[in-house]
Amino acid sequence: MEAIVITGAGTGLGKQLALKYAKKGHPIILMGRREYPLFAVKQEIEANEGQAFIYTLDIRSYEDVCQVSAQIIQQHKIGCLINNAGIGHFGSLASLTCEQIHEMIETNVCGTIYMTKAFLPYFQTLPKAKIINIISTAGLRGKVNESVYVATKFAVRGFTESLVKELENTPISITAVYMGGMDTPFWEGTDHIQDRSRLLPPEQIAEYIIQNENGQAEMIIESNKLL
Ligand SMILES: NC(=O)c1ccc[n+]([C@@H]2O[C@H](COP(=O)([O-])OP(=O)(O)OC[C@H]3O[C@@H](n4cnc5c(N)ncnc54)[C@H](OP(=O)(O)O)[C@@H]3O)[C@@H](O)[C@H]2O)c1
Repeated sequence: MEAIVITGAGTGLGKQLALKYAKKGHPIILMGRREYPLFAVKQEIEANEGQAFIYTLDIRSYEDVCQVSAQIIQQHKIGCLINNAGIGHFGSLASLTCEQIHEMIETNVCGTIYMTKAFLPYFQTLPKAKIINIISTAGLRGKVNESVYVATKFAVRGFTESLVKELENTPISITAVYMGGMDTPFWEGTDHIQDRSRLLPPEQIAEYIIQNENGQAEMIIESNKLL
């Protein structure tokens, strides 16, 4: 089976996608900046007879992305890239620092674009390939105290919708996934969400994506679809 590349695979949704796709028999390429969460996921996959490989990188660096993706392409047969890594800083626009603004734009927007640009020429040599961009309902509508995060997710939406058109009539599918709040480490260090019990478990969102993803241009996962 072809391997699946997942950014941000050490925690949250990326981890759950990694565990579930591994159970289906796909080798998983686990990516992120920190090795230890990726290592724990690799161990869990291997304990269930799956295969996983770790590549650490910072997706904000185009140099890093090019170097690591070239290694992966040389060492594995990849069929799918999941651009999942992302970060958020929340609060009024006045309260955000320029560093936080840049961090969100560089991770959520540039990181997704760099990874896609790095894998696309390889995917174009294959009979079939998939790119899945994890966005958020923040890519569909504005939200209070989320202005820059929402701006980055609208940017990824525009990028994805444009690539859908650019890659029309090719064997590469590209899917934008829009989901609501999930209970993941994403919310650690912020009081933006007061009641985390309302957030959905990432296991449930990962399962929904795997069951329903079929190369369509977009998947909107509102919580009532999961009840
Ligand atoms: N949680 C929610 O409510 C929610 C809702 C809708 C959409 N989303 C989106 O879902 C995606 C996954 O988020 P999550 O909730 O699962 O949060 P999470 O647990 O914080 O996962 C984000 C992952 O991205 C990795 N990452 C961050 N910056 C990176 C960088 N520069 N280079 C490489 N990896 C990087 C992190 O690992 P390292 O720190 O080790 O690099 C982390 O494992 C994000 O795109 C998020 O915007 C989240």
